Amino acid sequence: MDLILVGFMGSGKSTVGKLLAQKLDKEYFDLDELVVQRAGMSIQEIFEQSGEAGFRKIEQQCLRDTEHLSGILSTGGGTPIPENNQQILNKMGAPVVLLAASIETTLARITDSDGRPLVEQLGPSGLNKLFKQRQIAYSQVSDFQIHTDRLSPVEVTEQIMEQF
Ligand code: S3P
Repeated sequence: MDLILVGFMGSGKSTVGKLLAQKLDKEYFDLDELVVQRAGMSIQEIFEQSGEAGFRKIEQQCLRDTEHLSGILSTGGGTPIPENNQQILNKMGAPVVLLAASIETTLARITDSDGRPLVEQLGPSGLNKLFKQRQIAYSQVSDFQIHTDRLSPVEVTEQIMEQF
């Protein structure tokens, strides 16, 4: 990969990833979409049939599959959490950019669960807790962070392009 985007649900990874790929004339990969393709069902259905653990297994296989591809990769919000995934991301050697946002902005962006089983399962207070729990892992895997609260996706994309 040429660049990897990480961040919590609703941080804009997919929107910014597509814009970046367009501007840089690179291929775009969305890890959630790769998981759906591989499983032949929606993320919601994977969670229903095999639980979060089943989803994480497929997610890891798909992440490994992208190791030798070139392009822009948007990960899922939970991708950087398992240690094995952190090692895979590290090994890929591409810059990892964290799209950061405050919990308020994040919650406002994901109130409509939009096919995200964890939003339905956890509710606002559970998401708040998960958000806090994940911050250390996000900072550890990332080389660069952008705070997106007051930026449009185009502005976030421009800032990333200035950096790399
Ligand atoms: C998840 C985030 C989702 C998706 C799955 C689990 C998470 O991706 O991978 O629902 O654990 O935060 P997005 O961050 O693209 O919504």
